[in-house]
Amino acid sequence: MGNFFFDEAFIDGPDRVDGKAKVTGAAKYAAEYELSGLTYGVLIHSTIARGSIKAIDSKSAEKAPGVLGVISHLNSIKVPGYDMSVNPGQGPAGGKGLQVFNDAFVRFYGQPIALVIADTFERAVFGASLVKFQYSREQHLTDFEEAKKTVAPVAGARYNDFVKGEKDAYKTAAVKIEAEYIMPNEVHNPMELHSIIAQWKGDDKVMVYDKTQGVKSSQRSIMQAFKLPEENVQVISKFVGGGFGSALRTWPHVIAALIGAKLIGKPVKLVLDRQQMFTMVGYRPFTVQRIGIGATADGKLTGITHEADSITSSYEEFTERTVNVSRGLYACPNVTTRYKVYPLNLSTPTWMRGPGEATGAFAVESAIDELSYALKIDPIELRLINYAETDQDANRPFSSKFLKEAYQLGAERIGWKNRNPVVGSMKEGDWMVGYGIGSGMFNASRGTAKALARIYADGSLLVQSAVSDSGPGTATAMTQIASAVMGVPFKKTTFELGDSSLPPGPTQGGSTTTSTLGSAVNDVCLSLKKKLFELAKDNPVFHTATIHNVALNDLLFENGSIFLKADRSKKVTYSDILNKAGLSQLEITEESKGGEDARKYSSYSYSVHFVKVLVHPATGVVKLDRIVTVVDAGKIISHKTAESQMFGGAVAGIGMALMEEGVIDHRYGKWVNNNLADYHVPVHADVPAIECILVDKPDPIINPIGAKGMGEVSIVGFAAAVANAVYHATGKRVRDLPITPDKLI
Ligand code: MOS
Repeated sequence: MGNFFFDEAFIDGPDRVDGKAKVTGAAKYAAEYELSGLTYGVLIHSTIARGSIKAIDSKSAEKAPGVLGVISHLNSIKVPGYDMSVNPGQGPAGGKGLQVFNDAFVRFYGQPIALVIADTFERAVFGASLVKFQYSREQHLTDFEEAKKTVAPVAGARYNDFVKGEKDAYKTAAVKIEAEYIMPNEVHNPMELHSIIAQWKGDDKVMVYDKTQGVKSSQRSIMQAFKLPEENVQVISKFVGGGFGSALRTWPHVIAALIGAKLIGKPVKLVLDRQQMFTMVGYRPFTVQRIGIGATADGKLTGITHEADSITSSYEEFTERTVNVSRGLYACPNVTTRYKVYPLNLSTPTWMRGPGEATGAFAVESAIDELSYALKIDPIELRLINYAETDQDANRPFSSKFLKEAYQLGAERIGWKNRNPVVGSMKEGDWMVGYGIGSGMFNASRGTAKALARIYADGSLLVQSAVSDSGPGTATAMTQIASAVMGVPFKKTTFELGDSSLPPGPTQGGSTTTSTLGSAVNDVCLSLKKKLFELAKDNPVFHTATIHNVALNDLLFENGSIFLKADRSKKVTYSDILNKAGLSQLEITEESKGGEDARKYSSYSYSVHFVKVLVHPATGVVKLDRIVTVVDAGKIISHKTAESQMFGGAVAGIGMALMEEGVIDHRYGKWVNNNLADYHVPVHADVPAIECILVDKPDPIINPIGAKGMGEVSIVGFAAAVANAVYHATGKRVRDLPITPDKLI
């Protein structure tokens, strides 16, 4: 088979353009740059959950070898963009993150309260161990159950009940299900720790190497914090070792490093440790959901009520679309949703893969399964009976929806028809066998992006945009689009990203990068083709007996040449065109965004996950035996990286279903399993070969490339598929994740 690992023909389509650099260690992540005079920062975090810092004794730390500074609210610079009105008494506000070193207040256990900088990392760690804090402690609240009894949820119009049709109509249905489902706190835990190198170049100019899903959004946050013009802030993020949403925001450690670098006048490298990853970069918030769902005896839904209570921090409001999935996944005339968040003395939660929908779909897709047993209707059949042909929520047609195809393809692949629907009826050796299905949806959209395309006289193509690639394969997909549109061989095409000084690209979030940036790359390449055409149209080679004025439409752009469609022997290479014009390169930069047309439609991606589980009756161990994961994400640009996205969603879904749970000891308000030994995530032994099916049908409306998105939807509904399979195997319905063995025996 040859050098299969980097063999272009292996699997389907080219390898990741950055794959080799990543697996060989050549890729440079944010903390891996060597700068002259680089110093090392270590953050100290609070060890109480609420109160204030009364005193800091940093004398021995300051005298420790190599220590260059101990920075806290006592000696920090005033950050000009900080809003001094933010104080603990005010309650949560939207979009106002923790303002590091701005005051003496402690708002959660694990809050960054001081930064020790030294000439080596080890000396910074030692210095940090010498700093002593005196606190004035106040009663904290980190327990949701307690909060529900004692504090009011955050108020505001967005928390108003949503009622379509008759309120709580499920209550009077012929057949109904009422149940409560719990999603624990989950922590993103990407492999790469959050890190930054901050360097001031003079008083008002900074350069940072950041782990971020958005070089432009990171740049904007730093501009706002320090009131700097765009051209004075450069953010580099060439490689990102996973994010899953944790790198969507600019967190306080970034500002802390910038404060530190400014105060000591040297570049500072700051890497969070794994424990700090649990309190400083967000988490998926604990959520309790109550679902009431009712149907006629023949399975037509008559009412869905979906209520969710979740948490936020005491200083910032965070909400997600947890209950919205009930408004759109199925056709139902009566839908009621209620959503509340309670402020706790914890750090602010944030978006985590499939934010909102992943939590909501666990509940709804479990409840639909419960209903299927109550109705004695096959769970796929029940979904088809209630298939939504139009967007029920927005009352608009879908730009495309191939969920039916996804059900069918997945059911065939897993052999759904061989499943004995009787609970507890299937066995393999000692193991009980269960099959389950769960599906998901996630909003698909197209934002605005700019890209540059430049063709060189040697025929190679460069495309640039300021975007990050946190793993989905954006650089690869963009290279494929540029190569295909321009007719330049893949190997001669380069996509450059990860630098805020490139033309502004989108933040890599909400499954929008391929749609947004892929369209921009498509559009800018089309424009570059037109420019090439202008240079080439008078070339005598295109003048034949019948064609005098060659038009763009008469030509083909392929393999580095322009051909006459009517006679492919008439051609001129891009190199020749540029050389003849005396140009070393030809380029264009263009902004691209969606039009009015797309707004007349609703766009969603859809996933369906089928799993076969084995449950051991004596130990309660659940093993995923088979996974078939199917996605309707529109046109698939890069099959290999798209499959990989779906694999990642399934792996994270196994974690959500069986393992992940951030545990807080409410006596101290402290996360107690804040390491990768105690916070369990799937390892190879937990993951079977995952079978992925890409429906791969272009969306004709959303954008010119037909691609929707898949990063989020890959996980949405997965945990329900597992819970449903566990029920099918055992007759035990686990409604609080994760499904650990103790809940089954
Ligand atoms: Mo995704 S939660 O927008 O990284």
